[in-house]
Amino acid sequence: QKQMGLKDYYKNYFPIGVAVSAHNVLSSDTTFILQQFNSLTPENAMKMGPIHPKENEYNFKEADAIVNFAQRHHLKVRGHNLCWHEQTPDWIFKDANGGLVSKEVLLERLKQHIFTVVNRYKGKIYAWDVVNEAVDDDSTRLLRNSLWYQICGIDFIVKAFEYAHEADPNAILFYNDYNTERPEKRARVLQLMQQLKALKVPVMGIGLQGHWSIYEPTQTDLQQTIQSFAALGLQVQITELDVSIYPWEKKLRPKTEKDIDAYTPELEHKQDEQYKMVFKVFRANKQKITGVTFWNLTDRTTWLDNYPVPGRKNYPLLFDANYQPKKAYWDVVNFK
Ligand code: XIL
Repeated sequence: QKQMGLKDYYKNYFPIGVAVSAHNVLSSDTTFILQQFNSLTPENAMKMGPIHPKENEYNFKEADAIVNFAQRHHLKVRGHNLCWHEQTPDWIFKDANGGLVSKEVLLERLKQHIFTVVNRYKGKIYAWDVVNEAVDDDSTRLLRNSLWYQICGIDFIVKAFEYAHEADPNAILFYNDYNTERPEKRARVLQLMQQLKALKVPVMGIGLQGHWSIYEPTQTDLQQTIQSFAALGLQVQITELDVSIYPWEKKLRPKTEKDIDAYTPELEHKQDEQYKMVFKVFRANKQKITGVTFWNLTDRTTWLDNYPVPGRKNYPLLFDANYQPKKAYWDVVNFK
């Protein structure tokens, strides 16, 4: 009898995805991936920098490998992402003299980029993170002061969604961001979504990245967040889930706790409780939630190793460094 995986326990709820590199799908990781997950997100391969390094040069190799693997094994694919302020090639903002391009030129380049990438994977990618992290962390302003914003104002967001919708009218289009459960940031992301809706922009879903920790979010904040985005008519996906054993900000660390980096039984227990809580909330909201994706496979390697603190190991996932389910895994799948 085949061993059950996350995707099987959650088959009546939502697809369970994982962020992967091309290496993951071309290595012995494939057995593990196919056992646990039924959706993939390219961790880096489709970002503008990697996939479109120069104006007339695309590098589809890694993205193709991931999409081909998914097709062969009937996995869903979420595209990530079409427009961001990071991992974006310099050329897109620059004119021939090294100055900044005009709004018209930048939007035309964005259009070419989106048309090319979305069209290539049309019918194979069911959902796109169209714009990533455009809302500022500083509460005095709504939008991040990126080059996208400096050159285009809010129009880069409006146009990115319009281009993506034109390129693939069947793709579900998401706005994706982090710290969306913190009431103050949530309010501003909601404000942006309301503005886009008022402008008839084809935004259809909200991606809650879910880079959480044992300290946040609270159950109330998580529930309210899902509830309030769904109330705008958006489908909700958790797009980049992990639960750090460290607080994202130093000030969130309880005074009694030292700045240690050992994975103590106490920290593992708190993480277990946090995973149990968030999946309980996800299940209770299964009408609103259309996908939950983990950001990396196991604690062996995760993007949180060395980030944001260099030299610090993290243990944020449901599987240990030997690909074995942790206690939190069993607590997430054993529900009635
Ligand atoms: C991260 C990747 O995991 C890393 O490999 C890369 O070095 C930086 O980007 N929010 C996002 C993701 O939307 O694209 C980021 O992925 C993590 C934070």
